[in-house]
Amino acid sequence: MREDGLDPEAWRQRRTSFGSVAAGYAAHRPDYPADAVAFLVGERPRRVLDLGAGTGLLTGVLLAAGHEVVAVDPAEPMLAELRARHPQVPTHVGDAEAVPLPDASVDAVVAGQAAHWFDPEPAAVQLRRVLRPGGVVGLVWNTRDEEVPWVAALGRALAAEARGHEADQGVVEAFAHALGARVEHHRSAVVQRLRPEQVVAGIATRSYVATMDDARRHEFLGEVRAVLDTHPDTRGRDLVDLPYRTDAYRLTSA
Ligand SMILES: C[S@@+](CC[C@H](N)C(=O)[O-])C[C@H]1O[C@@H](n2cnc3c(N)ncnc32)[C@H](O)[C@@H]1O
Repeated sequence: MREDGLDPEAWRQRRTSFGSVAAGYAAHRPDYPADAVAFLVGERPRRVLDLGAGTGLLTGVLLAAGHEVVAVDPAEPMLAELRARHPQVPTHVGDAEAVPLPDASVDAVVAGQAAHWFDPEPAAVQLRRVLRPGGVVGLVWNTRDEEVPWVAALGRALAAEARGHEADQGVVEAFAHALGARVEHHRSAVVQRLRPEQVVAGIATRSYVATMDDARRHEFLGEVRAVLDTHPDTRGRDLVDLPYRTDAYRLTSA
């Protein structure tokens, strides 16, 4: 059993579930604030590996900032969504533990909402291999901001199923240790303006929902919908603002 209470098979199923929700993922998950990306990789154009790039939400912010991006993810359906949005970006099916890129080929490796799926020790070997001297590793997560009462109510509805799937300081520490790196942290924020049904559709792309059987998923998403239908801050609203805290961690080796 893992520390987060999942057995290894449940963990594997969740980690490989993303291809089944690729289209919904691209449409309903938040992207990342430009200041977080500037903190991670700097302002100067760089060649950046987006590892666990998924449908390219972080890729898009990197491109807008002028960086050259190469994308790696184990889920081909996620990469197909990425290519549809960013046809100029080369994509490779691969894992953090076996990165299909040459040695010393990138200035930075970033992972958005993904590093908690990587195995830190073998991934760190790969990161050291593909990075050029002086290269940087950037890990970033968006976490729903539960300071906002209706978001806290949503969090309570998700809590029993969502355990172990949010940004985790322990993941950052494991990478810092494996890389022999020092860590700097930057906190910012991003807000999604969504219709209530889009909030529910975004929850449906979470790995713990994607791996439920149909009956359980239907029931669970009904409970999520009930929060939005009944909470005084969301009831009857056409659009709601869903706020996230963005935590960006820059890892540099001496
Ligand atoms: C929550 S999604 C994040 C996608 C994207 N980075 C974003 O910010 O929207 C996590 C991604 O990590 C990928 N992933 C899972 N295990 C991985 C591994 N061992 N190595 C690389 N990517 C992995 C999944 O296929 C999925 O696309």
